[in-house]
Amino acid sequence: MYRTHTCGELRKEHNGLEIVLAGWVQTVRKFGSISFIDLRDRYGVTQLLFGEELNKELTESPLGREYVLQVRGTVSERSSKNANLATGDIEINVRSFSILNKSVTPPFTIQDDTDGGDDLRMKYRYLDLRRQAVKKNLELRYAVGRAARNYLHEHQFMDLETPFLIKSTPEGARDFVVPSRMNPGQFYALPQSPQTFKQLLMVSGYDRYYQIVKCFRDEDLRADRQPEFTQIDCEMSFVEQEDILSMFEGMIRHIFREVKGIDYSEKVVRMTWEEAMWQYGNDKPDIRFGMKILNLKSAFVADGGQVARGELIAGAGFGVFDQAETVLAIAVPGCSEYTRKQTDELTEWVKRPQIGMQGLVTIRYNQDGSLKSSVDKFFGQDKLKAIAEAAGAEPGDLLLILAGREERTRKATSELRLEMGKRLGLRRENEFKLLWVLDFPLFEYAEEDNRWVARHHPFTSPKPSDIPVMIGNDPRIADADKYLEHPYARIKANAYDMVLNGNEIGGGSIRIYQRELQERMFAALGMSKEEALHKFGFLLGAFEYGAPPHGGIAFGFDRLCAILGGSESIRDFIAFPKNNSGRDVMLDAPATIDKKQLIELGIISIRPEGEQS
Ligand code: AMO
Repeated sequence: MYRTHTCGELRKEHNGLEIVLAGWVQTVRKFGSISFIDLRDRYGVTQLLFGEELNKELTESPLGREYVLQVRGTVSERSSKNANLATGDIEINVRSFSILNKSVTPPFTIQDDTDGGDDLRMKYRYLDLRRQAVKKNLELRYAVGRAARNYLHEHQFMDLETPFLIKSTPEGARDFVVPSRMNPGQFYALPQSPQTFKQLLMVSGYDRYYQIVKCFRDEDLRADRQPEFTQIDCEMSFVEQEDILSMFEGMIRHIFREVKGIDYSEKVVRMTWEEAMWQYGNDKPDIRFGMKILNLKSAFVADGGQVARGELIAGAGFGVFDQAETVLAIAVPGCSEYTRKQTDELTEWVKRPQIGMQGLVTIRYNQDGSLKSSVDKFFGQDKLKAIAEAAGAEPGDLLLILAGREERTRKATSELRLEMGKRLGLRRENEFKLLWVLDFPLFEYAEEDNRWVARHHPFTSPKPSDIPVMIGNDPRIADADKYLEHPYARIKANAYDMVLNGNEIGGGSIRIYQRELQERMFAALGMSKEEALHKFGFLLGAFEYGAPPHGGIAFGFDRLCAILGGSESIRDFIAFPKNNSGRDVMLDAPATIDKKQLIELGIISIRPEGEQS
């Protein structure tokens, strides 16, 4: 028997017990004629005491870090206990030991605050995974997965697998492709998601499906993106949007409870996409704090677009505001006493290339009610006060105003809001705020091709009231500059995203389930009938055999874990992740392959001697 207990298990009550332990040598400390060794395994660390006799043996065959060691001995209560260690009340009086395997000196120390840089740790990921900090993340990942599975099982969802070697599923990224040896010159695509398969399962009558599944997307990477990532992918039949929202709020609540011990009983906030864009400048707002954006040029009217609100800034003769397409303000709480140096630093911050603004206007709303701004020349106290109050500022606040082109200014203001939230400590790691963003536009305009693209994916249904708009209008865009005036720009999707602390953790929609509407959708995206049949004939065909109304959602499993674990990077929650260039530095992949293999796969052809290929 290799071991009777684990290295995290033994306590005071085991005093006197004969045991066998096996694990890795974390540290060796010599004290005169005796030695202490910390032995580590997945479950914890136990201190071993090598008395005088055995210590001599240790001198003959010394133990190094990460040696695999088996010891036999007796549990003994320690006189000086270590309260920082779960097993800190005891140690093992070792009677005999055997080295199960040696280790060369590891390239970094296997501790929480390791001395290994990112690349080194990735190259030796199997050693990095021995560190407690990484292990905690993977344990959390396992707990989240288990909680999701339990919840879905309780609600009659069936875990069904779908293939990886498929034809393209459009989710907005490029496909990874796999050449087929048996079909020279032809390629499979790896799924960007199991989207079409889960819909086909609905047609087959498996009315509640789920799968914790790998998805593959060839897209530019960021901290919250990997080329292969995992989704908790779900689909349901005979449901409306409301059924999906409540089922999956339930799942997230269950995960919060099981994994974090948090009873998230408050209502999940709901917001339309338009509200999110107007009030927070992006479609995944962090609502742990306010600081909503005020548009000083126009006001938002639900369903009716916008109306002019120029009176707040018009007529002052301040060219920057007058000429700007949009002027946006946020009121930063309690910062009216920022020094000139601090506001200059913020101005530099918005001028950085990543933010790309020309400058920043500030208004201090002092505690005594007076106002002081960088544009005092143009705006008197009354005007400044009207602006401050419209932005919801109170005495003691600092207003920050950005002006410029619509899209850039909106993005910049949204970034500035998040930055100020961070600086003021309003984005607390252990506070969780869930949000549904609803009513996304169905289409987005793709400038390069002058056509519509699906904002979510082409299987998303329009809101029922917008179906006539889609059917009754020609999708072609006559005047690219005026695409916003095209009726298609107003069509709303029956789609929803779940946002947690400013991160999109899930997204889904109610689907199209009639062939005619799906064909219409493909046509709207500029696909010819032949192309639609070639790419999605299987789905269009299936819709003719009694497809039920259905809808679903997919959660970004890695992202959900990262946020619950208090990290910005999903890599920390994946056992073997890729780096920012999509490389696995441990395997050194991707890699070139043999010419022979390329020929076999039909990627290059064999040419007669001497001919150029
Ligand atoms: P979507 O494309 O919104 O929807 O993806 C669902 C969720 O997956 C996560 N995600 C990612 N996580 C890590 N790395 C990536 N590269 C990455 N891309 C997406 C996000 C996102 O919210 N088939 C639809 C779902 C549906 O309609 O049911 C889909 O895949 O958290």
